[in-house]
Amino acid sequence: MKDMDPEEQLKRMTRYDIILTEVERSGQKLWHAMLGAAYVENELHIDDPEILNAIRYHTTGRAHMTLLEKVLFVADFTSSDRDYPGVEDIRKAARKSLLEAMLSGMTYTIQDLTERRLAIHPDTIAAYNEAVLEARAI
Ligand SMILES: [Fe+2]
Repeated sequence: MKDMDPEEQLKRMTRYDIILTEVERSGQKLWHAMLGAAYVENELHIDDPEILNAIRYHTTGRAHMTLLEKVLFVADFTSSDRDYPGVEDIRKAARKSLLEAMLSGMTYTIQDLTERRLAIHPDTIAAYNEAVLEARAI
C-alpha cells in the first residue's frame, strides 16, 4: 500500500469506507497504515484486532499500545532497509529498551514534522505523552 499511487490510495480508502480526518488527509505517509489494515481485514480476511491495530497504528503510534503494536512500531523504525538520519540512534535505543526506542522514534517523528511545518497526528502526541510520563516514572 505504501508505494501505491496516492490517487489509487484514495480510491481504495473510499472502497474500504475509510474517512480521513483533516490531519490524516494532510499526511500521505499515514495512508498506507490505514489502508494496510483495511486490506488485511477485507482481502486476507484476518480479523484479529491485535494484528489489525498493530498495522493500523505502526506509523502514528497511539496511547495504550499493546506489546505487539510497540514491537511493530519500533521494527518499522529500525528495519535494515531504513537509512534516514538518526536511525542508528533509534537502533541503539532499541537494544536498550522498547520504551526508549518508542520515545526515540516518536521524538524523531515530532521533530521532523515540526521542522517541516507539518501537522502531527493526535495519536502520535498521545503516544509520546504516555511514553514520556512512563519513562519519568521509572
Ligand atoms: Fe509503514
